[in-house]
Amino acid sequence: MKKIRVRLGIRSYDILIGHGIISQCGRIITGLSVGNDAIVVTNKRVFGLFGNQLKIALTDYGISAHFEIVADSEKAKSQKTASGLIGRISAYDKGKRVFVVALGGGVTGDLAGFVASVYKRGTPYIQLPTTLLAQVDSSIGGKVAVDLPEAKNLVGSFYQPRVVISDISVLNKLPARQIRSGLAEVIKYGVIKDRKLFEFMESSYEKILALDSRAIEHIVSVSSGIKAALVSLDELDKKGVRSALNFGHTIGHAIETASEYSGRYNHGEAVAIGMVASARMSLRLKILDISAAGRIEALIKKVGLPTRIRGLDLKRIYASHLHDKKFIGSSNRFILARAIGSVKVAEDLPAPLIKSVLKEISE
Ligand SMILES: NC(=O)c1ccc[n+]([C@@H]2O[C@H](COP(=O)([O-])OP(=O)(O)OC[C@H]3O[C@@H](n4cnc5c(N)ncnc54)[C@H](O)[C@@H]3O)[C@@H](O)[C@H]2O)c1
Ligand SMILES: [Zn+2]
Repeated sequence: MKKIRVRLGIRSYDILIGHGIISQCGRIITGLSVGNDAIVVTNKRVFGLFGNQLKIALTDYGISAHFEIVADSEKAKSQKTASGLIGRISAYDKGKRVFVVALGGGVTGDLAGFVASVYKRGTPYIQLPTTLLAQVDSSIGGKVAVDLPEAKNLVGSFYQPRVVISDISVLNKLPARQIRSGLAEVIKYGVIKDRKLFEFMESSYEKILALDSRAIEHIVSVSSGIKAALVSLDELDKKGVRSALNFGHTIGHAIETASEYSGRYNHGEAVAIGMVASARMSLRLKILDISAAGRIEALIKKVGLPTRIRGLDLKRIYASHLHDKKFIGSSNRFILARAIGSVKVAEDLPAPLIKSVLKEISE
C-alpha cells in the first residue's frame, strides 16, 4: 500500500493507495479513533458493487455500518439532499459515536463531506473514492459543497477528511467514459507540474486505457502526490498556488455550463477541451512553443478525449466564462502553459483572443 501525506498541521492526513484495500478499511479506520458507527453515504450503483465488502470490512473490526443511499447524479449535490441526510443522521445518532464515510465518485464525496462539515459543527469523515476523478482529484483537499440552481458548489467550505482510501481495483467496474474523464485531470497534473508524468502518459496510454494495474497505480499515486503538495501549500486556495489546478477549467467550466441540459460533455471532457483552448492561447501569446502545444493536444486525443467543441453555442460559452464568480476585480483568469510541467496565471486576456481560439477549436 502506498501512503502520501497531506501536511496541514493538526489537520494532516494520509492518502492510502492500493489494490483491494477496501477490505482493510476496518483496521485503517480503527487506528484513527473517529468513532464506532459509520454512516456510509453512497448511491445505489456503488452500494451494489462495493457495499457488502465495505460492511464486512467494518463490522469485522466492531464498527457498525449504516448506509444512506442518495441519487446517482449531480442532483444529489443539493441543499435538499443534504438537509434530508442531516435529519436522518441525527435520528440515527442516539448514544452512538458516528462518523461519515463517502463511498463513491466526486458527487458523493462533495455531498458527504459537506454534511460532515456542518453536522454537529464538524463530524469526522473518510473519503473512499471509487472513480478515477475522485481518486486523483476531488477526494483530496477538503473542498466540500452542494450546488445552488444558479451555480455549482455555491454552498460549501473547506473541511479535510481524516483519511483518503483509494482502492485501485474498484476502477475495473468503472465505465470507459468515466476513466477518460479522470484521465483529463491526470494530463492536467502533467502539464502543470510533472513532465515525467506527461511523458509516462504519452508512452503508456494504451496500458492505462486497458487498466493495467501498475500503470493505474502509478498515475493515481503521482497525481495524488501533486494534489497533496499543492493543498499542503495553499489549503484555502488563497495564495495562488492551488489555482494551477484550474488549468483547462476556465473554458472547461464554461463548456459544462453551456452543455448543462444536454449532458453532452462531462467534467473531464469539458476540461480536455479547455486544456486545448489554454494551450492554444499560450501558443498565440508566445509563451508556449508549437511542439509542446501539439503534444498536449495529441495526448488528449490519444486517450479518447474530445479536443473540439461540437454542438454548443460559442457565444454562450464566452458569456459563461465571464460570469465565473471567482474573478474578483478582473474579467477573466486563465492558467497558461509555459512548457510541459510549468504554468502561469494570466488575468484579463483580451476578448478577441479568447473568441478566436474558441472559434478555431469548434466544429
Ligand atoms: N471537491 C473537489 O475538489 C472536486 C474536484 C473535482 C470535481 N469535483 C466534483 O466531482 C463531481 C464529479 O465526480 P465524478 O466524475 O466522480 O462523478 P460521479 O460521482 O457522478 O460518478 C460518476 C459515475 O460513476 C459511477 N461510479 C462511481 N464509482 C464507480 C465504480 N467503481 N464502478 C462503476 N461505476 C461507478 C457513479 O455512480 C456515477 O454514475 C462533480 O460534482 C464535481 O463538482 C469536486
Ligand atoms: Zn476538474
